[in-house]
Parts: sequence; C-alpha cells; structure tokens
Amino acid sequence: MNDDIAEILFSEEAILRAIDRLALEITAAYRGGDLTVVSVLKGSCVFASDLIRRIPIPLELAFVAAASYRNGTAPGPLEVSYFPTDAEIAGRRLLLVDDILDTGRTLSAIRDALLARGAREVLCCVFLDKTARRRVDLRADFQGFVVPDRFVVGYGLDFAGRYRNLPFVAALKPEILAAAASR
Ligand code: IMP
Ligand code: MG
Repeated sequence: MNDDIAEILFSEEAILRAIDRLALEITAAYRGGDLTVVSVLKGSCVFASDLIRRIPIPLELAFVAAASYRNGTAPGPLEVSYFPTDAEIAGRRLLLVDDILDTGRTLSAIRDALLARGAREVLCCVFLDKTARRRVDLRADFQGFVVPDRFVVGYGLDFAGRYRNLPFVAALKPEILAAAASR
C-alpha cells in the first residue's frame, strides 16, 4: 500500500492537531444545547470517531450511508442506502460530518433530506474541503483542512474502496490512478 503513495499531504500528527481545534470549536458552538452527530458513511467513519471522542458534551450519534464514487475518481449518481429514523432527526440540531467536501452535491442533498424530515438545524463539518471544485452553494461550518484539487486517500478516504486505513492523507502515484481508470 505504501508503495502506491506519491506524497503525504497531512501527517497523522497534523490531522490530530486539526481535530483538537475542530473539537474545541464544535464544543463551544453546542455547549448547553442538544447535538446529534450524523456521520456520512463510509468515508467519514475514521474522522468522526476521532472527532467525537474529543467533544466533552452530551451528544448522540447517527449515520447516513451515501455513495457517489463507484470506482475511480469520477463522480457518479448519488445513492443514499441508509438513513436515520425520523425520531433521530425531528426537532434535533444535527452536525453532518463528512470526509471531504468536493462539488458539494452529496452533503447538500443529504442536508436537504434531513431538513425535509424535520431537523431543527443542519450544520456541516468536513475533514477536507476542496473549495476549488464546489458546484453547489454549500459552505462548511467547520473544516479541518483546505485541499488542492487533487485526488487524495487515507484517513477514511478511498480510491476504488481501498486506502481508507492509512493513518495520514496522501496523493497516489499517477500510474495507480491510471491503471484503475483503464480497467
Ligand atoms: P461531492 O458530492 O462532489 O462533494 O463528493 C463528496 C464525496 O466524493 C466524498 O464524500 C468522497 O466520498 C468523494 N470524494 C471527493 N473527492 C475525493 C478525493 O479526493 N478522494 C476520495 N474521495 C473523494
Ligand atoms: Mg464519501
């Protein structure tokens, strides 16, 4: 796996420092209120689990499962395959947590669906923000790092299902991306 990596963009230490900062911001924003963290599977599971353990206020945890990248690096149609129950959503303040904000279509579709089911508020927290590729009007309320327009893996982010278990964020060698694209 490590042979496939061209460059490490964010080390494990830098990631954990960013998460400490994010946790402080989120704790301040929700202190005294209710909070449900909604983790977008699969990509945000690593980030969400490190993040919630640094937020020392009462919170609940819910999941949505959405997939837009079937294979390779080109976006396909968005499929939502798992959604929280209405009881987990209605009247609640939700914090949507995702691995990366790219075009913004995934998070904006999920946010609209949660609001339509009666969420009181939906804010967004993303580990990475690819601001250059935004296609819809969506801003992250909390953000770990801004990343250049480059396909990255690790710390939950995958390429064709793999590399989620890397403890850092990296760019893959061009020949690895090209080999999968031609398959
Ligand atoms: P959006 O709907 O275009 O914002 O896409 C968001 C989803 O695309 C993320 O949740 C990721 O699953 C995936 N994605 C976007 N950019 C990357 C990347 O650089 N590496 C891995 N997955 C990515
Ligand atoms: Mg994802």
